[in-house]
Amino acid sequence: MQKQTCVGACLVCWGWESQLLETGFLGIFLSPLWTLSRLPKHTPTSQIVLWGFRWLIFRIMLGAGLIKVRGDKCWLDLTCMDFHYETQPVPNPIAYYLHRSPWWFHRFETLSNHFVELLVPFFLFLGRRMRILHGVLQILFQVILIISGNLSFLNWLTIVPSLACFDDAALGFLFPSGPQGLKKQVLEMQREDTQRVQPKPRDRGCLVRQVVNISLGILVAWLSVPVVINLLSSRQIMNTSFNPLRIVNTYGAFGSVTKERTEVILQGTVSPNASAPDAVWEDYEFKCKPGDPWRQPCLISPYHYRLDWLMWFAAFQTYEQNEWILHLAGKLLAGDAEALALLAVNPFEGRTPPRWIRGEHYRYKFSLPGGQHATQGKWWIRKRIGPYFPPLRLEDLKEYFKTREWPLPEPPSRHTH
Ligand SMILES: *[C@@H]1O[C@H](CO)[C@@H](O)[C@H](O)[C@H]1NC(C)=O
Repeated sequence: MQKQTCVGACLVCWGWESQLLETGFLGIFLSPLWTLSRLPKHTPTSQIVLWGFRWLIFRIMLGAGLIKVRGDKCWLDLTCMDFHYETQPVPNPIAYYLHRSPWWFHRFETLSNHFVELLVPFFLFLGRRMRILHGVLQILFQVILIISGNLSFLNWLTIVPSLACFDDAALGFLFPSGPQGLKKQVLEMQREDTQRVQPKPRDRGCLVRQVVNISLGILVAWLSVPVVINLLSSRQIMNTSFNPLRIVNTYGAFGSVTKERTEVILQGTVSPNASAPDAVWEDYEFKCKPGDPWRQPCLISPYHYRLDWLMWFAAFQTYEQNEWILHLAGKLLAGDAEALALLAVNPFEGRTPPRWIRGEHYRYKFSLPGGQHATQGKWWIRKRIGPYFPPLRLEDLKEYFKTREWPLPEPPSRHTH
């Protein structure tokens, strides 16, 4: 799907890509390869690179925390978590139950979020023990997020730079401590190091490495200036880069919490007349996003269904802001196998594709566990709001596709009797 209108969805994906890019960029400097010659044994990891990772996680967390308190009142009156589980992009079954936590628990969660995002980042600068505590809290926070929703690989990605908070001694417990174990060998190496009094030989590899690392430090510091100014600004912008290579970026997505869940349901009919009262509309079902109220919310983390996420954004915007959704409708009208592979249920499986496709807009709420709907097996209660986009045939889309330079899919062959 080319030429999407770039709104919220792209911003979020942009955040992931940039976070990955920045982590990967710093990762290059962990490798000794570029010094072209072998480093002396026991050369420690550069502190500059380690601080690069710590500075990255600091910006990610503080940026996310600040944009929340600046972006939505519910972060100040502590009610955000009353909505979050139901309205997050793709809830999982645990979110269904967490949504019904007592009010004080939701307040506690919101406060904990502020603690982790606004205060814990500063632990990085308060010495080794506080830094390790930062790493532990940070990873714990991401794991809780992974369990309580389907925020997918964003959380896994955020764990990676946090690893720079730990040193060998802190990570030692992960390794076997037998007589031939790695732990013993490392301890041995460290003892040798402290016993050796003469300064390390300054060979060419070391020098190159030092020059490159110091240059990296200066570059990151220089590129951080606009990022810090943005963090301090009351009109903070989210997920932006201030340099074309996106080496140092500003993060912080999801400042506000959606208060009401809406869904776009794609439906098709084989009826020749879309407005005929006897036209039977059948629902397409996505792999993970809510659709059929009887279907249990899915569990996908760490995987990520991008189309399902895009449908979440589309649902609180309009189809004009999400032109790709008509592109998808065109593909479904043509019975395109690749587009159908992105869905869980094609109601026209084994039949000719529908003549008409429409998008319907619904409001979704979790059913109450143990309540009347839940005992009928319903996870969701939905109510139609109105049309999202009107019934369309492939021929209706011809002009629309042409102006956007999208190739019009081949119409399916129909057997007329
Ligand atoms: C389609 O159905 C509507 C409602 O029954 C009717 O008013 C309209 O004339 C029909 N259109 C065609 C082309 O048959």
